[in-house]
Amino acid sequence: MNSTSDKVFVAASADLKEGERKVVPVGSTEVGVYRVKGKLYAYQNLCLHQGGPACEGLLMPKVEEVLGPDKTYVQSRFNYDEWHIICPWHAWEYDVTTGEYVVNRKIHLKKYEVVEESGKIHVIV
Ligand code: FES
Repeated sequence: MNSTSDKVFVAASADLKEGERKVVPVGSTEVGVYRVKGKLYAYQNLCLHQGGPACEGLLMPKVEEVLGPDKTYVQSRFNYDEWHIICPWHAWEYDVTTGEYVVNRKIHLKKYEVVEESGKIHVIV
């Protein structure tokens, strides 16, 4: 954190449990903060598609297609190793650990630094 940055309170540590998310106002925008597999991630609540509230959508495991030996579709399954933020407007999916749009990982949600100390969670702006 440099001398010009600010800390914005998100929640008490106990109020953001594993798999939960909290969206908080930060200046003129909002930031969604997630706790996934013990780590915290924070992104601007602004979808890269058409500006929807990406962080208000579902957090769910990646859906993978299982193909048979002849490369035809057999079934879909969840991959619990990779969790996605799903924008509620048109279902663009973002990797929760990076904020990357999973169809084109060159673009990503705006990421914020998030810190947890003394039982409190803050984003750095
Ligand atoms: S605005 Fe998010 S998917 Fe369209």
